[in-house]
Amino acid sequence: MLAVRNLTKEYRSGGGALAVLRNVSFDIAAGETLAIVGPSGSGKTTLLGLLAGLDTPTTGTVLLDGANLGTLDEDARARLRGDKVGFVFQSFQLVPTLTALENVQVPLELRGIRDSDARARDLLERVGLGNRTHHFPTQLSGGEQQRVAIARAFVNRPRVLFADEPTGNLDGATGARIVELLEQLNREDGTTIVLVTHDPVLATRLGRSIRLADGLVIGDTGARSIESVAAAVA
Ligand SMILES: Nc1ncnc2c1ncn2[C@@H]1O[C@H](COP(=O)(O)OP(=O)(O)O)[C@@H](O)[C@H]1O
Ligand SMILES: [Mg+2]
Repeated sequence: MLAVRNLTKEYRSGGGALAVLRNVSFDIAAGETLAIVGPSGSGKTTLLGLLAGLDTPTTGTVLLDGANLGTLDEDARARLRGDKVGFVFQSFQLVPTLTALENVQVPLELRGIRDSDARARDLLERVGLGNRTHHFPTQLSGGEQQRVAIARAFVNRPRVLFADEPTGNLDGATGARIVELLEQLNREDGTTIVLVTHDPVLATRLGRSIRLADGLVIGDTGARSIESVAAAVA
């Protein structure tokens, strides 16, 4: 689903360059769930943005479901994101003037899909918010807002879902329910899930974790070659 090769990201600061990601390479198979872990400032959010095509690398390539993000212009990347990618931001980023239902409908309406109402209601049911459809974000708890954000990210049936510290602002029990929900959506829809977390307990629940330190991959619990994946499914 994702092939990442020799990815680097540098920011210019003053006269010099700040290397935020250094020569990062890995593959993620379709249907995998994995965590990206590492200390604050290690490059996790930057990496997630590059994988999702929200940002462009300094050098290196990202193939997302076979498409080389580096050869696409911004419009083509936006279309690809709309078709294949869901993104859950750490700060939820719900539209405050829209209800829960309307927030979930936004990605469908952006794609010109009619009858967005039924699909959005179904997603809100699945995240346990069937009785909160007409609440505005300020009328919802943090965990409920995060579930609306997850419903919105899943509404287009993305092939891959990226979530940046989706439990970061939540208490432990609420955070565990969010992860259960992501795992359930992974099982039901086969969605590939890439989740950034600094919570080691959450990371070990997922099938695999990639550890970053100072922009380098220093560990990968589940690096699998295509050959071993093929052997496992044979
Ligand atoms: N737009 C930017 N300009 C300059 N430096 C940045 C920018 N975005 C992030 N950084 C720096 O890149 C490093 C990695 O940031 P980030 O990817 O947000 O780390 P993490 O998510 O692991 O905490 C940090 O040192 C941060 O200050
Ligand atoms: Mg971050």
